[in-house]
Amino acid sequence: MIDGAETVPERSAGAERSTRQPAGGPVAQSDTAAPPLLEVRNLKVAFGAVPVVSGVSFTVHQGEVVGIVGESGSGKSVSALALMRLLPRHAHISAERMNFCGEDLLSADRRRYEQLRGADIAMIFQEPMTALNPVLTVGEQIAETLRRHERLGRRQARARAIDALARVGIPAPARRVDDYPHQMSGGMRQRAMIAMALACQPRVLIADEPTTALDVTIQAQILELLQDLQEEFQMGTVMITHDLGVVSSFADRVMIMYAGQVVEDASAAQAFASPKHPYTEGLLASIPLSQSDVDRLYAIPGAVPPPFDLPPGCRFEPRCAASRPPCREARPVLYPCGDDHRVACIRPTGYVFPDRGECNE
Ligand SMILES: Nc1ncnc2c1ncn2[C@@H]1O[C@H](COP(=O)(O)OP(=O)(O)OP(=O)(O)O)[C@@H](O)[C@H]1O
Ligand SMILES: [Mg+2]
Repeated sequence: MIDGAETVPERSAGAERSTRQPAGGPVAQSDTAAPPLLEVRNLKVAFGAVPVVSGVSFTVHQGEVVGIVGESGSGKSVSALALMRLLPRHAHISAERMNFCGEDLLSADRRRYEQLRGADIAMIFQEPMTALNPVLTVGEQIAETLRRHERLGRRQARARAIDALARVGIPAPARRVDDYPHQMSGGMRQRAMIAMALACQPRVLIADEPTTALDVTIQAQILELLQDLQEEFQMGTVMITHDLGVVSSFADRVMIMYAGQVVEDASAAQAFASPKHPYTEGLLASIPLSQSDVDRLYAIPGAVPPPFDLPPGCRFEPRCAASRPPCREARPVLYPCGDDHRVACIRPTGYVFPDRGECNE
């Protein structure tokens, strides 16, 4: 597991402090409802004076998969790393709320985070070669996680590491447990990374582009594996990807990020059937429907602006085919546009705002 210098987040003004709960299982907020596994409200991250993530909010319940989707540089990893408290020291993090099973993570100290990471909240990283330690065998790394969090002895931890490798489909796990990361193929390493993340049966899994570094066939296998494990363990999963297609059959909710902001947030069914933001539409149009489509795929023109050079109005405006002069002036905020559907666009596709008239001319 990657570790690094920690940045202590700040509670935004006006935010309510939630009760700190003891470690362990979920704690009921009321007689009827348990708190969500993760609850993030108004998360902001800046590096020095440059804000790179602004106003990100999401909730993950047990058994739910939330997809965070956006092009490179949109702030997906920074949001996840802020939650894991794995950003470098020059990162400034603030939020109104950041809870795990009702426990206030904003006031959790370093020791508490060390308990949580790997045991309760695990992360799969995009490039296993940078996340796995090259001088330890894969088995030693999985066993180390188990020894630390579950206080297992050497033998027991090794046996559990072999089981974990078997569970993610690594053939001859009793032999491969002694492999160093470089002795494994890319797909195998990613499987080993998943085995390590799931070894302690975390309640929350954050998968940051878990298949991007792999070729298409292996990508499909790893996604299928993740989906099976998700169903088996009923974790709350945050699936980060730049490819909306990856979450199409996997996610329950989708949050679309652009240039550090959430531009659309909806159930997956709504996001795919009736996207409201032109950016989401562009992402959808760039998913190949079949292999023969790959050559004539749509690509959104231009690129995500760097955080130090954002346009004054809507951040997507310079690339938006539906842009109008007002889009260059005011920055749209997330606005409800239907049941459980929010969009940050003054002209969301196909939606008529009750108080703003026809928006899809
Ligand atoms: N340690 C850092 N110091 C300064 N800026 C950073 C740092 N890490 C990320 N950034 C900047 O924050 C912005 C968001 O980066 P982030 O890594 O979250 O993007 P992403 O959506 O995960 O993209 P990708 O799909 O390429 O992984 C980018 O502009 C990036 O350059
Ligand atoms: Mg990233």
